[in-house]
Amino acid sequence: MALVLIVDDDRDTRFVIRNLLLSRDYDVIEAKSGAQAFEILESNDIDIAVVDLVLGDLSGIEVLKKIKSEAPDISVVMFTGHADISTAVESIKLGALDYLVKPFSNDDFLLVAEKALKERRISREFEAIKKHVYSHNLKEFMPSMSPRMKKVEEMAGQVAGSDLSVLVNGPSGSGKEVMAKFIHSLSNRRKNQFVALDCGALPENLVESELFGYEKGAFTGADKRKDGLFEIAFGGTLFLDEISNLSFSTQAKLLRVIQERKIRRLGGKKDIMIDVRIITASNRPLEQMIKEGVFREDLYHRINQFSLQLPSLAERKEDIKYLSMFFFEQANKMLHKKVKGISDGALKALENCPWTGNIRELKNAIIRGVLLSGKLVLPENLGLVPGGAGPAVMAIPSAGAGEGGEFNLKKAVGAKTLEVEKELIEKVLLLTGGNKIKAARVLGIDRKSLYSKIKKCRIKTGSMDV
Ligand SMILES: Nc1ncnc2c1ncn2[C@@H]1O[C@H](COP(=O)(O)OP(=O)(O)OP(=O)(O)O)[C@@H](O)[C@H]1O
Ligand SMILES: [Mg+2]
Repeated sequence: MALVLIVDDDRDTRFVIRNLLLSRDYDVIEAKSGAQAFEILESNDIDIAVVDLVLGDLSGIEVLKKIKSEAPDISVVMFTGHADISTAVESIKLGALDYLVKPFSNDDFLLVAEKALKERRISREFEAIKKHVYSHNLKEFMPSMSPRMKKVEEMAGQVAGSDLSVLVNGPSGSGKEVMAKFIHSLSNRRKNQFVALDCGALPENLVESELFGYEKGAFTGADKRKDGLFEIAFGGTLFLDEISNLSFSTQAKLLRVIQERKIRRLGGKKDIMIDVRIITASNRPLEQMIKEGVFREDLYHRINQFSLQLPSLAERKEDIKYLSMFFFEQANKMLHKKVKGISDGALKALENCPWTGNIRELKNAIIRGVLLSGKLVLPENLGLVPGGAGPAVMAIPSAGAGEGGEFNLKKAVGAKTLEVEKELIEKVLLLTGGNKIKAARVLGIDRKSLYSKIKKCRIKTGSMDV
């Protein structure tokens, strides 16, 4: 049950608010002064504070400041008389969620209380998730909440301490590289390098020079010596991504290196001992490729001393919420934004998406959502296709296509922001019956800004003009 602190020196107001809240299943504590409010805040886990601007001893603003500096997650709603509206607006800048002008109706009050509770719930959920995320001290890895994936993580933890080679299977974007890093970070090799090579991204001769290195003059253009990844990863882990893309002849060379535990740089004369743990990934079934005669069975057994099968995101739906929050935190930092959370509607939309591109696709949707949202990530910020057919990846580029079809991020963001603002303002105007003063208040902007936005977004206010 949510606990509400009422701070007001007027007994009658406290009485009315208290009864109203009790009738809706809120718990209530009352303070008749700022000093008393501070005492209560020290020893109670308050969810919402409703604070009068004018108190006997202190100003409501001072109470607000203290709450926001010591317990910023408490949602604060201010009461004000008509004469103090400018101070009330100031309070919003200081972190109050909203203000109510006295006298207000019961419905107005309950609506704001509900909004405050929702905000409080979101920040609490975030705190819990943050604890879960950071207790593992792995900045890139979000431990799973799904029973299926938890089992995979447990197995990864068990194999990490050995030097066994691990083959990570899983669909595209399901976290194979992240899993390889996770194993490395739990292994005794963690103090040495984790080196990754995407075998699908390079032509055959470059894969070999990357892996084994070369001596100066080994071929045209080799103007200085280059160490191979096997050398760089000495004492650490070498991750070979998309191993199914290796040509048959490179497969043979790799097999020899693994068996003999030594390499020779291209054009080199001496062998170099290696000490590397190999983790590989493939999103094509290697067993099938062996049957087709395009992947060597002997190499397969060398790289597959232990295997892990990662589920698709659709098979670990429980994680969508947690991963979303995790990426949300990352995106807020990366984009220097202060978005407060992901709305319930947006979370629901995320949970209903098929995510054929798995975690990578989800991460992109969240980054896009944070980029385009204001206070909360709303469903429309995510660029999801209606009906849950996955994100509309092209939504932003087409909005931001510059001359010659070149993508312009600034233009794209501008266009999308305008679109979102327009929709939001139209909705709020509808809700307030066209009352612009109320609408401006709900939107948290002044009336002048609202008028200029209405003009800029070409919103037709017509008959609902007030
Ligand atoms: N458990 C996780 N916690 C946090 N982020 C994750 C997790 N799993 C995957 N990701 C993120 O999802 C994205 C895709 O992960 P990754 O590159 O490991 O997938 P992959 O299976 O190797 O993809 P591909 O098949 O395309 O190579 C990355 O941005 C990664 O940071
Ligand atoms: Mg990968």
